[in-house]
Amino acid sequence: MGDTAIFPRPGLPGRAADALGTPPASIAPRLDFTRAAVLQSTLDNLETRVRERTAQLEAQVIERHKAEERLRELTTRLLQVQDDECRRIARELHDSAGQYLAAIQMNLSALSRDASALGAPQAKRIADSIEMANRCTTEIRTISYLLHPPLLDEMGLASALALYAEGFAERSGIRVELDISKDFGRLSVDSEIAMFRIVQQGLANIHRHSGSRVAKIEIAQDAEEVTMKIGDQGRGIAPAMLREINSGTRLIGVGLAGMRERTRVMNGRLNISSSRSGTTIEVNLPIAESTDHTQS
Ligand SMILES: Nc1ncnc2c1ncn2[C@@H]1O[C@H](COP(=O)(O)OP(=O)(O)OP(=O)(O)O)[C@@H](O)[C@H]1O
Ligand SMILES: [Mg+2]
Repeated sequence: MGDTAIFPRPGLPGRAADALGTPPASIAPRLDFTRAAVLQSTLDNLETRVRERTAQLEAQVIERHKAEERLRELTTRLLQVQDDECRRIARELHDSAGQYLAAIQMNLSALSRDASALGAPQAKRIADSIEMANRCTTEIRTISYLLHPPLLDEMGLASALALYAEGFAERSGIRVELDISKDFGRLSVDSEIAMFRIVQQGLANIHRHSGSRVAKIEIAQDAEEVTMKIGDQGRGIAPAMLREINSGTRLIGVGLAGMRERTRVMNGRLNISSSRSGTTIEVNLPIAESTDHTQS
């Protein structure tokens, strides 16, 4: 072959230099210059692509934040609409169906007073109808109360919870201990509704899932925030499930997720701790300025 000298070129390991061969000394500077230009252009291209990709990713992050913000606004609105709707249906039930039923009961009572003029079968029918009308009234009162307890607007959280806990204990057979100071003040309308709904969901979960015979609700207040704990002595939530619930990777039901959303909307914190000897849900809500209850 020719007289090409073989030697390791600077910057290239010996075997790479062997493979490429080495140009004659006279054209080496020109080739170095060309290689440098190619390298520079490759570098420029890479930098442009990195800049473009970074811009794309930044745009995606901004879009995602906007979508999350829209979702939060929608959730807040949905919770408000749900509460307003529950309040409206509760009033409708009480004021409309409840009043018609009361009128039917009065008519039936008047008829039963004249029962001596009727035959035994008719008197029996009237007595049965009175019984069914009474049951229906109780049902309507309970449904209306569960949809929106009137005491919550009029007397505040402490009174509404005391009555609710009593009814729940009767229905479920679970002993409920409510620890809330007598002088517990009024909170904002939204905070009171949020806390009442969280207790409803918490007690429903204790009844459905914990197997506990007791439930304890503790509510304390300082100048800045209200702390509420809802605890049981049941079987607890399995650690793997609790991790999924906390990270939001799995939506099992809407109870805990709803509690979390209500707390977040009020700029509060929610923490679930659970072991084989029970579960406690702790909610901290900052005390809002407005405690105006005239709107509700
Ligand atoms: N106090 C508790 N004790 C034991 N397990 C619980 C308790 N609270 C919740 N869990 C577990 O966490 C799961 C999620 O609760 P969540 O309230 O979100 O949904 P759910 O009660 O299953 O359904 P939903 O509330 O929508 O009717 C429950 O299915 C249950 O397995
Ligand atoms: Mg539930």
